[in-house]
Amino acid sequence: MAEKFEAVRVSEHVHWVGAIDWDIRDFHGYSTMRGSTYNAYLVEGEDYVLIDTVKAPFREELMSRIASVTDPGDIRYIISNHSEMDHSGSLPRVIADVQPEKVYASPLGVKDLEGHYHMDGVDEVKDGQSLNLGGLEFSFIETRMIHWPDSMMTYLPADRLLFSQDGFGMHLATEERFSDEVDRAVMVEEGTKYFANILTPYAPVIQKLLARVEEMALPLDLVCPDHGPIWRGPDEFAWIVGKYHEWCAQEPTMKAVVTYDTMWGSTERMARAIEEGLRESGASPVVLRLRATHRSDVVMEVLGAGALLVGSPTINNTLFPTVADLLTYMKGLKFRNLVGAAFGSFGWSGEGAREVAGYLEQMKIEQVDEPLNLKFVPDDEMLEQCRALGRKVASRLKEVAGRE
Ligand code: FEO
Repeated sequence: MAEKFEAVRVSEHVHWVGAIDWDIRDFHGYSTMRGSTYNAYLVEGEDYVLIDTVKAPFREELMSRIASVTDPGDIRYIISNHSEMDHSGSLPRVIADVQPEKVYASPLGVKDLEGHYHMDGVDEVKDGQSLNLGGLEFSFIETRMIHWPDSMMTYLPADRLLFSQDGFGMHLATEERFSDEVDRAVMVEEGTKYFANILTPYAPVIQKLLARVEEMALPLDLVCPDHGPIWRGPDEFAWIVGKYHEWCAQEPTMKAVVTYDTMWGSTERMARAIEEGLRESGASPVVLRLRATHRSDVVMEVLGAGALLVGSPTINNTLFPTVADLLTYMKGLKFRNLVGAAFGSFGWSGEGAREVAGYLEQMKIEQVDEPLNLKFVPDDEMLEQCRALGRKVASRLKEVAGRE
């Protein structure tokens, strides 16, 4: 017999009917050690409206939760706020099963759904448009690049509730559905990690959206994202909005991330000496060896730091593979306001640290010095050069962080 799942009442008209993915540990290259949820919502007016669906393998869980409220065939409308597959993967089968009268998406969402599933017949809704569906008004706000070009949010004035798709979400599998029921330290960590790995490139767009939402002054009792807990109450939403302002601004702090990999320990010795120099001069270093730290945890640490120092040995005339992996990933995330430096040990050619410096330049990280490139095993004098580099970065950090 198939497992049965229950919907959770969110507000007068809204039920949570999503899926809990306890097992996922890799979300397109981002480590999700606490799993995730794919949130979908059933709005109950004179008719039923489904907001988003779930990742394809979780369709039965979605349908079971819907069935705990009503016959899924009663769904008359579906609104797709975001076409990425974690929210639309089960949409074609759901449409086939429930035969809704209309499916709505943003203009780019219509194109994305055509491209992904070769489906037609999805109706466009535009930014600022409102529709009356089943006796309830739904208003649409385009939120391009939060997270994809198609993304939009849907506002339900009757319940003072915003369906915010990826915005204000986090990867966190939990039985608790509301933010005020979840350990705040866990939410800080998972919220930071989600923003750092998913939303950092779009920080300038998000700042504009936050200004627009603040200007709209929407009455908000609930904000319902497509991942993680629902923000219940104005204070809860104000808390995450405050975090978004902080994460978007990326104001320099005295925290310095030193991340590296090593072949025979020389680059590691350099990293530890740099750490000493940073600490001696007032910075707060965090040291992360890449073979022990997932790339998505490194970028979580970088969000909230003022400096990034990256070390690589040279192997076969290039940088070490784990360092290349991190830098390729980080380049796309477009962190702002970082100072930094490249360093590394080499045997005979020395491309590792130089290539790191090239990446840092492409990432628009202000390098305080030429790459520190040391031959073979560092002696005391070389380690002092590393400490001096740490002190120099800390000194520049004090200037940019306004501590001097
Ligand atoms: Fe949760 Fe951009 O998808």
